Amino acid sequence: MAEAKLDKSASGWWKNAVFYQVYPRSFQDTDGNGIGDLRGITQRLDYLQTLGIDGIWLSPVFASPQADNGYDISDYCAIDPMFGTMQDMETLISEAKKRGISIIADLVLNHSSDEHRWFQEARKSRDNPYHDYYLWRSGTPDCPPNDMQSVFGGSAWTWVPEVEQYYFHQFAAKQPDLNWDNEELRRELYRCIRFWVDKGVEGFRLDVIDQIAKDPDRFLTANGPQLHAFLQELRREAFPEPGIVTVGEAWSANVERARVFSAPDGSELSMVFQFEHMCLDQQPGGQKWDTIPLSLPKLKACLTRWQQGLHGKGWNSLFLDNHDLPRIVSRWGDEGAYREKSAKMLATMLHGLEGTPYIYQGEELGMTNIRLELDEYQDLEIRNMVQEQLARGDDPERIRAAVWARGRDNARTPMQWDDSENAGFTTGTPWLPVNPNYRQINAAQQLKDPDSVFHTYRRLIELRKTYDVFREGSFRLLCPEDEAVFAYVRETEREKLLVVCNFSAEMQDFTAPQEFSDAKLLISNYTDQSCTLRPYEAKMLYLSKDK
Ligand code: GLC
Repeated sequence: MAEAKLDKSASGWWKNAVFYQVYPRSFQDTDGNGIGDLRGITQRLDYLQTLGIDGIWLSPVFASPQADNGYDISDYCAIDPMFGTMQDMETLISEAKKRGISIIADLVLNHSSDEHRWFQEARKSRDNPYHDYYLWRSGTPDCPPNDMQSVFGGSAWTWVPEVEQYYFHQFAAKQPDLNWDNEELRRELYRCIRFWVDKGVEGFRLDVIDQIAKDPDRFLTANGPQLHAFLQELRREAFPEPGIVTVGEAWSANVERARVFSAPDGSELSMVFQFEHMCLDQQPGGQKWDTIPLSLPKLKACLTRWQQGLHGKGWNSLFLDNHDLPRIVSRWGDEGAYREKSAKMLATMLHGLEGTPYIYQGEELGMTNIRLELDEYQDLEIRNMVQEQLARGDDPERIRAAVWARGRDNARTPMQWDDSENAGFTTGTPWLPVNPNYRQINAAQQLKDPDSVFHTYRRLIELRKTYDVFREGSFRLLCPEDEAVFAYVRETEREKLLVVCNFSAEMQDFTAPQEFSDAKLLISNYTDQSCTLRPYEAKMLYLSKDK
């Protein structure tokens, strides 16, 4: 049996933990301005404690002009007044700690805001001490150094007349990339990180961390030659404490790279967010907006590679949702009659795997995508894409369908707390419309219903804390070619777990391996048992070899 209480000063405690991502502007508003705030999160800690999570990954709450909802930081050591005060942050950290919940701050170290003091100085003159904190190249106003494109559209180079140079930005022009080759810049960043460790923050999510060691002259954004040296220094200088948990966002990670990032010696990161499994319904090499149907055999092959590839050699993060991705029920499940069943099935599939699970706010309720008019979207990625595609004459209906399927605002609609106006999120006007389905899908109703999606997540967390096999078991995929059934076995010397999930709305045949004939049913999304798998049915069967 896994131990009940985690010793958070020890390395590896996160292997027994489940984390929950809070996107602060959409979680809970307390001052009626329509934007969530820190006090709102503190108010909802009891809810998170009931769910059973061990830590909150808090999307950025630092001072920011909010061009990219806080992923553009203008002061790493200050709280954005929109979210509250430093005192509110301290209260959140201490109230969370009382409930056994760690705060994991979101650090954006690849770029700052163009309104950061460093950049304001840097752009004044080439001999300003801060100039070298950013990446500059010469050119003429009408001829950028090369044709690299920003992730959010347009050139990755912006001209600054004062210094007659371009600066490099992989994201928006308001997010200039930091120059990690500059040692003084690195030291400043480490000081900011120490500031938060001293305040009681117990971990960090590191935004696009695989992109810090770039070389724009060679069109190289991720995995630059210095990347691992930088990460090792970051670990040594900024958070040497073995109990600090770190998760790096790494879109470029493959299994081999992830082994280095999350090496068991702890020299770099605890784990990375990789996205291979989240890009399978995207045209290979194509844009995120061009979707193709999900192939279950491909998903199974991908997750098997990660499960087996990191077993004993690194550590996986497990997730299906975050603030950049559409809602998983709308994507791989069913938004209609089988919404609840499919939400529970997806949770069961994920929470049986080896790694640290992350739940994105509202996922535990089975929240769905939203369909807005194009001018109602707030996300700069959506806005830029819509503008670009309309300008080149694309069909507005097609654009709308793409945004409905893949736009980031799908995940950013306000949390659905209850069936009162605005879902209990705000007494004011929400910054992004509340999904109209909040009267059917909300936390208050699901807390009362022992059979809800919420309680499925709660039980899955509890199971992970009860049986060691969740943390330690090897992974074996069954029926790899089956187009509808995802079944796998986890096994240690003493325990065995079978996870079976039907990814379709049709009945499926599936015979559990003989070895599980006496197994105990740990969880299922149907109340009675049957020999065939019903629509979106999911279950976990458990065997202890001790008896
Ligand atoms: C990460 C964040 C995303 C942000 C981008 C630029 O991918 O998750 O929200 O827009 O980095 O900081």
